[in-house]
Amino acid sequence: MKFLLTLSVTLLLIAGFQDYSTAEPAPVPVRETFAIKTKSLTITLQVGTDGRLYQQPISAGPSGSKPARDDEFYPQAGDGYVWEPALQVTHADGNTSTALVFDSLTQSNETADITATRIRLHDPAYPFDVTLCFNTHHDEDVVEQWIELNHAEKGAVTLQRVESSSLLLGGDVYLTHFFGDWAKEMLSPITEKITPGTKVLDSKLGVRASQFRNPSFILSLGGAANETNAVVLAGSLAWSGSFQCEFDNYGQGVRALTGINPFESAISLPAGKIFVTPTMLWVWSTNGLGDMSRKFHRWAREFGLRDGHTPRQVLLNNWEATGFDFDFKRIVSLYDPAKKIGTELFLLDDGWFGNKYPRVDDHAGLGDWQPNRQRLPDGLAPLASEAVKRGLRFGIWMEPEMVNPRSELFDAHPDWAIRQPKRELELQRNQLVLDLTRPAVQKFEWNVIQNILSVPNITYAKWDCNRYLTQPGSPYLAPSRQSELWVDYVNALYALMDKTAKAFPNTELMLCSGGGGRADYGALKYFHEFWPSDNTDPTLRVPMQWDYSYFFPVMALASHVTHWGNRPMHFACAVAMSARFGMDLDLTKLSAQDKAICAGAINAYKQIRDVTQLGELYRLEDPHENFRGALNFVSPDRHRAVVFAFQLKDGANRPAFPQGLDPDQHYTVHELNPAPSRETIPQEGKTFTGEELMREGVMPSCSKAVEASVVELTE
Ligand code: GLA
Repeated sequence: MKFLLTLSVTLLLIAGFQDYSTAEPAPVPVRETFAIKTKSLTITLQVGTDGRLYQQPISAGPSGSKPARDDEFYPQAGDGYVWEPALQVTHADGNTSTALVFDSLTQSNETADITATRIRLHDPAYPFDVTLCFNTHHDEDVVEQWIELNHAEKGAVTLQRVESSSLLLGGDVYLTHFFGDWAKEMLSPITEKITPGTKVLDSKLGVRASQFRNPSFILSLGGAANETNAVVLAGSLAWSGSFQCEFDNYGQGVRALTGINPFESAISLPAGKIFVTPTMLWVWSTNGLGDMSRKFHRWAREFGLRDGHTPRQVLLNNWEATGFDFDFKRIVSLYDPAKKIGTELFLLDDGWFGNKYPRVDDHAGLGDWQPNRQRLPDGLAPLASEAVKRGLRFGIWMEPEMVNPRSELFDAHPDWAIRQPKRELELQRNQLVLDLTRPAVQKFEWNVIQNILSVPNITYAKWDCNRYLTQPGSPYLAPSRQSELWVDYVNALYALMDKTAKAFPNTELMLCSGGGGRADYGALKYFHEFWPSDNTDPTLRVPMQWDYSYFFPVMALASHVTHWGNRPMHFACAVAMSARFGMDLDLTKLSAQDKAICAGAINAYKQIRDVTQLGELYRLEDPHENFRGALNFVSPDRHRAVVFAFQLKDGANRPAFPQGLDPDQHYTVHELNPAPSRETIPQEGKTFTGEELMREGVMPSCSKAVEASVVELTE
């Protein structure tokens, strides 16, 4: 008896043990294999005998294991998958599970370099289709990925979560992401190994992607990333609303899930309508961050922003010079000094509109886009024509999505603002966001933009957005559709931006959102550049611009010389010259020496902008880790190069070692706009081969904190 009892307990224990062992999913036999490929990246996909689509994890080394259930390429919630899913929907009949099987694959060459791949999956139990879409750029190792989803069910399907991309990575995976805040955008890069558990980078701001972190990150496989020798995959979500990038280490690998933040964002999708996710950008390199960024920049100049092959002009903004306090005469008085110093474009900032509630500070006037009659009795046109008469282009600031409660617009349409019932209005910078889901608001904003940009001689605009959503309610949408505000807003915004870009093809546009809140490729494709941060202290701009440069070409980064931080003018000018040069200064108040430094910097910028903006970037010395930051740019034909050294702390001078030069070519060394009273660099005027310069380095003239040196190498 006792023996029998022991035996049965033992058997039970064994049975229990065996039950646990079944938690490890069994391998699935493979029926068919295909790949999504660029020059050096291969994403291998396998169709199992169960019909599901699987992915071989991407890793630094070889991979080739048999797929198991955990390795599904686009996993769905509710039918046996236990980790973070890419897709979670509630079908019309209330079923919360989806089970997708492979249906078809089409691949076509769009150009010699671009292949379009569409993988159709469907749920055999429902008329429900998901198409995984890819545009691969062969030479640049760029993959653009998005999802299209549609159905023919008997009622609406609720989309709880539809990721733009779901990618499996194997081996050790390191994540670099960029924490920040207002005036500190991108300033705190963090690299960490993704350990078991889930790491989430997200935002819930509704009308902009970021304030506290950017929807761009770097994954590094097999070890932490470096500039020249690492396997890296940069990711950037092209979406200007709430986003979520999730890295789920489930023990066997890491799944990167990226897309619209599912937080409070359920969407009811009627039959026959196609839901399209934002595009996820992946950029791959086996040669480190430098190579990855150069590919990203080449892609961006072609597809990521407008007019990516035209170097940007020198801009003077009046914001730091006048703030809200100006009139026609004061603005016109800024033109001659601007022209004299070499400026090409004048930007009139906030404060030019509103009559019943004049925009004399940030408490009133947003929404009333009529020029203020006291300040500008004849409107904007004479301001613009006076600029053009003096050889300057003219640009204007606008914030079409916003309203101050103290405005004629709000008096007339209090229900046009995004707000929630029974809650006291929460203002940020004294303003509210207009509800772009409402057709009347769409029409209003389009009229505002059209009226402003149609003023003769306005050829540039800064489109600002100075708050985010904290009370995400739409008085327009039905109670059952409130959660659709987040996604509908951004799509309506893109429709507006698209119309603007098409209707005003010759008007240059800058994206701004209380600083760098809209530094993302979703909006940037309608724009020429973005404002990386309200913080223009050049000692912080050095690391900030370094971090942005992982993902964005410097032609997209507006960099202005201001008095922030009270740094030496020469240092501030050198930093601005390395991106899109601008100034936000009262030129009439500058000393003769500072004016001469600015004029010299502008002159030098005009000479090198085709190299810095159309050429290749090499990041040489990381300002986060060294006493200085250093970079160089090389023209596409490698005939010219420019080396920048920005010294942040005192430290012994040493050469900076440029990269990417033609080793056999001879280059003559010349320091541009050298700082007054500094010694001439030892290599000045001398000629060396590219090989010598890359081996021996270029000795900059700076040797103390807040000194900089810009050295040109010409054939
Ligand atoms: C925001 C921008 C600034 C300036 C002001 C104007 O803060 O970031 O550059 O345009 O708005 O109000």
